[in-house]
Formats: sequence, structure tokens, C-alpha cells
Amino acid sequence: MKKIIALIMAVLMMTVCFAGCGQETVSSTTSSTDNKTTSSEATEEKIEFKGTTVKEGKLVMATNAYFQPYEYYEGDKIVGIDAEIAAEIAKKLGLELEIQDMAFDSIITAVSEGSADLGLAGMTVDEKRLTSVDFSISYAKGIQVVIVKEDSKIKTVDDVTGKKVGVQLGTTGDMYATDDYGKDKVTQFTTGNEAVAALLGGDVDCVIIDNEPAKAFVANNKGLKILDTTYADEDYAACIRKGNKELLDAVDQAIDQLIADGTIDKIVDKYIK
Ligand code: ARG
Repeated sequence: MKKIIALIMAVLMMTVCFAGCGQETVSSTTSSTDNKTTSSEATEEKIEFKGTTVKEGKLVMATNAYFQPYEYYEGDKIVGIDAEIAAEIAKKLGLELEIQDMAFDSIITAVSEGSADLGLAGMTVDEKRLTSVDFSISYAKGIQVVIVKEDSKIKTVDDVTGKKVGVQLGTTGDMYATDDYGKDKVTQFTTGNEAVAALLGGDVDCVIIDNEPAKAFVANNKGLKILDTTYADEDYAACIRKGNKELLDAVDQAIDQLIADGTIDKIVDKYIK
């Protein structure tokens, strides 16, 4: 069922992409020095963005920086795949990136109420969310997986029924698990780290979370593993205030270029070995 929804979303996003590319409001220009670049260099295409942002000259990104490798702290700096992609988008739009860290379930509110321009947080394109925000074209795939203790009786996703599940509040893992197993079986934590701590402490039997952060949690904590069977497939995209067509078109165009010139692949390869 989830897979079907994810597939429909993917097709929808593709349609949005094709409809969104080549809008009159956004024109792509190449800088004057471009013809001098060698074929190994990506051409730095700029995007003419005529809209306004919440802070003049800035692109304010809302995220939840406890989601390695997409966004996490290195010292007091937020780094990761989303942070780097957002910096590239901002550069193309001639804006300076500002990252605001908040609870995951506050991101959509920040974007829809206009305190942030976009949310980039390994966020899954989801039907419910589409009623409050718009999504850009997708820039990455996500998979929901199940983390258990190495000696767990839970061997496949089917065994999760009736068990205590830990999730990060407001994530798709939270929404799907609540739908599938019932509210009383699901414990919501503010961060994935706290959900994993509860698993280690025996307060929950498993954690449902995105694959890449799951890998980081398993690598950083002894005695945990990820089930071979996956729970759901998803698409990650940037969320933008509903109806902010100028920004949506510009961001779509930026992502499109960053995919085409290999920048996103390069960023992903840097963080996911
Ligand atoms: N992909 C999931 C979702 O969209 C989880 C994202 C969590 N992201 C984060 N930065 N904590 O709901």
C-alpha cells in the first residue's frame, strides 16, 4: 500500500517537474565565462529569481539537524547532503543560505506560516503534507527501515505487529506506524537519537526510521541491526509555502540543473559511501 502511494507520488512529482520546467517567470542564463569551462567542470548556471524571500538576500532553510547524513552538526555547524544541496540552490538564485534548526514537526509550519522559505530535511513527499505545502521535484530516494537489537525476535517487517515501535515525531515513519499498528503501540520521540536510545534501553522493541540515518545509528551503537525487509519507499523533496510559484519554479529548476550536471550525485557520494 505504502509502495503504491509512494509510486503515485513519484509519478505526480515527475508531472510537476515537466510542468514546472521552462516557466516564463524563471529564465536560466549561463554566465559569460561558461564557454571557457572545460567539459570536466560543471557549468555554473544561474537562475533569475524575481520573487522575494523571508529575509532579503537570504534563503532561509528550515530543518531538523539530527538526521545524519542529510543534516547534522559538526561542531556548531550544520552539514550534510541537504545543507550542501541548499547551498547550491541558494548560490544559483543569488541568495545567501541561512539554516534554522527546529523540531521536525515544526518545519512545515515554519514554511507555511512564512518564517522560512523552504524546508529541506530528508522530507518525504506525502499526500497529507501536500495539503499544507508544495513540494519541489524530488532530489533523492528514501526508504523506511526497521532497526532492532541484534538478538531481537523481530526478523521481518511482518513481526512488528503487536510490538512497541519507536519513531521520530511527525515523520512518515510515525504516520505509517500509527496507521499500521495503532497509536498505543507507537512511541514518538523528538529526535531519532532518542528513539534509538529507547531501543537500547528496552523501552521500545524497534525503531522505524529512514535508511541512511538508520545506518548511522547502527554504526554508532553496538548491538543493533537493520532488518533486510524494508517498510516503505519514498521520495525526498524540498517543501515550499503553498502557492509560492516563483520560489517553487526556481528551486525545481535549480534541482533539475544540479541533477543534470552531477552536483547532487557528487554531494551524495561524499556523504554516503
Ligand atoms: N523522511 C521522513 C519524513 O519525511 C523523516 C525525515 C526526518 N528528517 C529530519 N531531518 N529529522 O517524515
